[in-house]
Amino acid sequence: MCGIVGYIGHRQAAPLILESLRKLEYRGYDSAGIAALHDGQVTVRRAEGKLKNLSTMLLREPMTGSIGIGHTRWATHGRPSENNAHPHRAGDIVVVHNGIIENYLELKRQLLKRGTHFSSETDSEIVAHLVAEKVAKGVDFLAAVQRTLREIRGSYALLFLNRRDPTRMIVAKNSTPIVIGSGEGEMFIASDIPALLDHTRKVAFLEDGEIAEVTLGGYRIFDGKGKPIKRPVKQITWDAVAAQKGGYAHFMLKEIHDQPRALADTFRGRIAFKDGNVALEDIKLTVNAVKQIKRIHLVACGTAWHACLVGKFLFEEIAGIPAEVDYGSEFRYRSPLMDPKSILLMVSQSGETADTLAATDIARAKKAKILSICNVIDASIPRKSDGVLYTHAGPEISVASTKAFTTQLTALYLLAVALGRKNGKLKALEARKLLRDLMHLPHWIEEALKLEGEVKTLARDLLHSRDFLYLGRGINYPIALEGALKLKEISYIHAEGYPAGEMKHGPIALIDEKLPVVVLAPRDRYFEKTISNLKEVESRGGKVVVITDDAKTAAEIPAFRVLTLPKASHYLTPIVMTIPLQMLAYYIAVLGGKDVDQPRNLAKSVTVE
Ligand code: AGP
Repeated sequence: MCGIVGYIGHRQAAPLILESLRKLEYRGYDSAGIAALHDGQVTVRRAEGKLKNLSTMLLREPMTGSIGIGHTRWATHGRPSENNAHPHRAGDIVVVHNGIIENYLELKRQLLKRGTHFSSETDSEIVAHLVAEKVAKGVDFLAAVQRTLREIRGSYALLFLNRRDPTRMIVAKNSTPIVIGSGEGEMFIASDIPALLDHTRKVAFLEDGEIAEVTLGGYRIFDGKGKPIKRPVKQITWDAVAAQKGGYAHFMLKEIHDQPRALADTFRGRIAFKDGNVALEDIKLTVNAVKQIKRIHLVACGTAWHACLVGKFLFEEIAGIPAEVDYGSEFRYRSPLMDPKSILLMVSQSGETADTLAATDIARAKKAKILSICNVIDASIPRKSDGVLYTHAGPEISVASTKAFTTQLTALYLLAVALGRKNGKLKALEARKLLRDLMHLPHWIEEALKLEGEVKTLARDLLHSRDFLYLGRGINYPIALEGALKLKEISYIHAEGYPAGEMKHGPIALIDEKLPVVVLAPRDRYFEKTISNLKEVESRGGKVVVITDDAKTAAEIPAFRVLTLPKASHYLTPIVMTIPLQMLAYYIAVLGGKDVDQPRNLAKSVTVE
């Protein structure tokens, strides 16, 4: 996610803003910038790369002004570059933005028709133009922003400066955090608490749909209809590190809870619901090209490989396209049967995993088309791809992949629908149903997260187990694998995932009263069979934990513990089933005193073979 900082007070804004942006570096970014207003003149300095580049620029060309805004950018629309860095300026207006403007394409078309010239590839610049044209017609600064917010759709934290009005900043929020800090004769605005702690612990959080006017004297908050809102000041007691985790004990838990936002941001702006289509801005595939696809070769490592196993079901059942899945470390040493009608689809959070990246040379040699799903704009894997579908999970700090995984599944789902629509396998009516289900997904995840208390208790009960077995069937079998990987990589307890139907072919010999067996049992076509599997385990004294979505029969299931999830659609159930497994691994590791965010021997991105 991007970082936003604003200042109005009696001190020079630029140095303060730069320091505050440094406190947001943990969020990850690829460029940065600051704007300051002095004597009716706006100065903007922007630099690609790390803050030291911006700092060097400021040393060379200092900025004056005691009102300013700053930004660290995590690119979502438009590659990392100085030109795409924020702040963006249009006329008298300067803006910094965190989030995604869903309807930016239609707004950009309208502005272009009005003769607007754009200087960046970003969705954010559009907002500056929309406010600037209103202010240029004499509309009050605050009113111009209020009217603009009624035109845009999406997630945003927006902070504006107006060259003609050095007395105030305007800030607006929808789905993306922003907080106002009250100092002594000075005011601060930031995306996150850590940026404020050097100056104040008195904060007021904006809520969705709200807008605030911030002046030297304080702030006024209004709702979407312009009604003033009283928002009492809160006193922050966190220390700086706790503040970076948003009050969560670890980044992993913060990122587990960030999933509803991350999933919504990943499909936001890509669903053309009316005609049941999916807009994939960075994947240009003609209908003819899609109809010719003979096979999709999914290649990834670790958790991303588990996402690919689910992707196989999605491409074959939704788009009718054969798919096969390989570990990157295996694919690179075999001779896959590929040709110009093949697609290589790499899935990678970091976009830098060497074993996955190696697949591109093989695909190129066989003239296959190369696509990728990635969380980091312009990373090595997207740069070597013909097309890319970016997840909008935001930076994932914890080594254990959580929101990256579920947003990868969301991206695979979007791609399967897009391909199915293009090759004619998926009719508009069915596609609208799948897209409606997708829009429900953040709600289902919110509901699944409510199991946290029960999962923490279960973790305490299973804490001293030395081995775990995770069982799943069909599209949920990969989730059993993912649950096992989550546990072993952060708690160092051995675990393995298995297809439930395979128990009788060996693993059932492992069953005893000390072995927890976690069974994924959604009410799907495998349900009866899975229940009979778990009875086999139960009858041999195994400690069965069942995760189901069928509240009715949950009570009748013979098990050590039953966790009941909300009923989701078939193809999105794997994502919902993942949530309790992430939390189970987290709490077992925490209760076991492990370094959850930085487990031993592991790196966030394995850039070597
Ligand atoms: C999963 O929790 C691990 N962090 C690891 O398996 C990871 O998924 C794998 O290394 C692939 O990384 P990538 O998605 O960045 O390519």
